[in-house]
Amino acid sequence: MNFDFTGRLTDHVSQERLAGLVSALAEIGKSDGGGVNRQALTPQDVAARKFLSQIAADLGCEVYRDAAANVFFRRRGTTDAPPVVTGSHIDTQPTGGRFDGAYGVCAGLEMLAALSDAGVTTELPLEVAIWTNEEGCRFAPGSMGSATFVHPELLTSFGESTDSAGVRFAEALADAAAALGEIPLVPLKRTFSAFIEAHIEQGPVLEREGKKIGVVSGIQGVRWFRVSVRGRTSHAGTTPIEFRKDAVLVATELVQQAYVAAYESDTDLRLTVGRFDVSPGATNTIASEVNFTIDLRHPCEGVLDDFEAKFRSWTRRQSPCTISLQELMRHKPTPFSGRVRAALIGAAEQCGEPWQEILSGAFHDSMYLAEHCPTGMLFIPSKDGLSHHPGEFSASDELAWGAKALTLAMYRLANPLLDGAAN
Ligand code: GLV
Ligand code: MN
Ligand code: MN
Repeated sequence: MNFDFTGRLTDHVSQERLAGLVSALAEIGKSDGGGVNRQALTPQDVAARKFLSQIAADLGCEVYRDAAANVFFRRRGTTDAPPVVTGSHIDTQPTGGRFDGAYGVCAGLEMLAALSDAGVTTELPLEVAIWTNEEGCRFAPGSMGSATFVHPELLTSFGESTDSAGVRFAEALADAAAALGEIPLVPLKRTFSAFIEAHIEQGPVLEREGKKIGVVSGIQGVRWFRVSVRGRTSHAGTTPIEFRKDAVLVATELVQQAYVAAYESDTDLRLTVGRFDVSPGATNTIASEVNFTIDLRHPCEGVLDDFEAKFRSWTRRQSPCTISLQELMRHKPTPFSGRVRAALIGAAEQCGEPWQEILSGAFHDSMYLAEHCPTGMLFIPSKDGLSHHPGEFSASDELAWGAKALTLAMYRLANPLLDGAAN
């Protein structure tokens, strides 16, 4: 293995084949405006796993699944050492695009195809993973598949999470397991040598800086809460102020206070109220209940602690309504492995395209994998920083540069005896 050889390896990464696969996958669950609505464990999600499994099998890979319906495509190495793994998720938001998650899985398959075309083997086996329910929009929290892989004991509590139609995650998993039945089961928490996730940036930085590849230094911390405000229904026209227990009034005051405090406290603090459900939802009846969500993110745990403490104190103040807070998700900031970052930097340098280090504002399955094995991520640019939107877009050459860097980094990590010879 030497510098010239890996240079030729990237020639086998095909922009057309990769862009074609991303487009073909986007047909499954296709929505208006060029987007995709393929929420976790729906028939569309299961169909997409079958479609990709067939492509992997045609490349000579073994296909496996685990108890969380994560699916793995394995290319044998010359040894049986723990695999070097890449991958991401293929579930989407209701207003999802074609690239969020799907790109990482398609880039992984393109890496496998490029290695096959080049006729090379690796010492360590290579795998491409599809992680279940990363988005967390159908079943909260997000990244359930990768979290369960790393912490199998979570499967029991995750199983009770329900979607808006009352379907339990455990039931949806059982249906998916039945549909994927012929794919052999492997245990959760298998040992991995390393994990790399390729993903679109979902933000504006790489495009603005004119960079083709982002080597991700880590992921900022994230906390999710559901806030429930309970008041009392009564007549909209006849109930004087002092008799009202208006859940909308109390909830909107809380939301407004939180947004003002977030913007004033730290420009890096990200606060989002993305759900706001009012009951009973009648024009002329005072609302008895509001449930809303809080998504809070920052690179420093201390800033999140301070904001959470402040918000909790507001929920305890005197009010005509009862306010309660339920934690849905909590993950501290995640720094990525120095060894994997070095492999990605070497790969980006070798591609010869402009690159930079970048912190991830979004969470990813890599956040959990980093607790399990040396982990890193690479980003490619997102047009106008747009994501969780049907118009999400990355150009075909950008898809290919990311896949080339991924292929080089995976090849390097899967050939540890050659490490050092490539530079
Ligand atoms: C992942 O989709 C996130 O919300 O960061
Ligand atoms: Mn994603
Ligand atoms: Mn997403």
